[in-house]
Amino acid sequence: METIGDKYLLGTGRSDHDRLRVISEIHDGRTRELLLRAGLASRHRFVEFGCGLGYVTRWAASLGADATGIDLNVDNLAIASQLAKETGLENARFISANIYEPGLEPESVDVAYSRWLMVHLNKPVEAMRAIYAALKPGGVMVCEEADVSAVYTEPSSAAYTELRDICMEGARSRGVDYSGGRRTHLWAREAGFDLVHVDAYHPHYVAGKHKGFWNWTLQAVGLGMVREGSLSAGHLEELVAGMAEADASPTTLVAHCRMHQLIARKPESKA
Ligand SMILES: C[S@@+](CC[C@H](N)C(=O)[O-])C[C@H]1O[C@@H](n2cnc3c(N)ncnc32)[C@H](O)[C@@H]1O
Repeated sequence: METIGDKYLLGTGRSDHDRLRVISEIHDGRTRELLLRAGLASRHRFVEFGCGLGYVTRWAASLGADATGIDLNVDNLAIASQLAKETGLENARFISANIYEPGLEPESVDVAYSRWLMVHLNKPVEAMRAIYAALKPGGVMVCEEADVSAVYTEPSSAAYTELRDICMEGARSRGVDYSGGRRTHLWAREAGFDLVHVDAYHPHYVAGKHKGFWNWTLQAVGLGMVREGSLSAGHLEELVAGMAEADASPTTLVAHCRMHQLIARKPESKA
């Protein structure tokens, strides 16, 4: 199995690309509001860390920002670049780098952004320190990170609960924190930032094409664990079938992860 960065379990391939597209469909509206609230504007130097297929980087470029997407996954970056080219966005570029050593000129960035990245990292505070170094004094770091422990259904589905908890525990054993969204502000403080804005939102579905998104995602994490040998294929299959039953029920409410939003500022001059 290919691992990326800090043992990142989700990978490349058609279904992972579809998953990133659905993340964009579910979250981009809130992301755009948050980035505008943070002051993102034309001609800003914008960098998205862990950009995946680059949906947010391309949107920032469409606003007129000088936009860079950074990721470790070169397949995703190639698609992101191609999509930027097809839409004539010459001010969007994509670079392969690890967030811990992004290779950016110190104090050169106005707005740094990441979504769904810190919860996959062993050292989120170190990652934020790297962002801090790249930001101009007074520049802002905007993060949207999940709390996967908030996934639930009503009526309760034993399969959803069990696979959610297996994935949470699997993440803990890999040294990453799938409930880290709720700690994002603490990581930012530790990295030296001032807090500007914190909030959270929690998508819920009783129907619709996004209702089963967490079935799909927990299944993808579970498949990684099957390949690692920490979960049996048969048990994963049973749990996925149980989750599909909840998704198919027109009266079962499925709550996705809660998304925590943060705007933090690098002080003008370090005290
Ligand atoms: C869950 S995806 C989210 C992608 C995108 N932010 C979005 O919301 O659609 C996480 C991304 O972070 C990237 N990634 C993981 N570890 C990384 C690291 N250490 N440095 C840079 N990118 C990393 C992965 O390759 C993947 O594209």
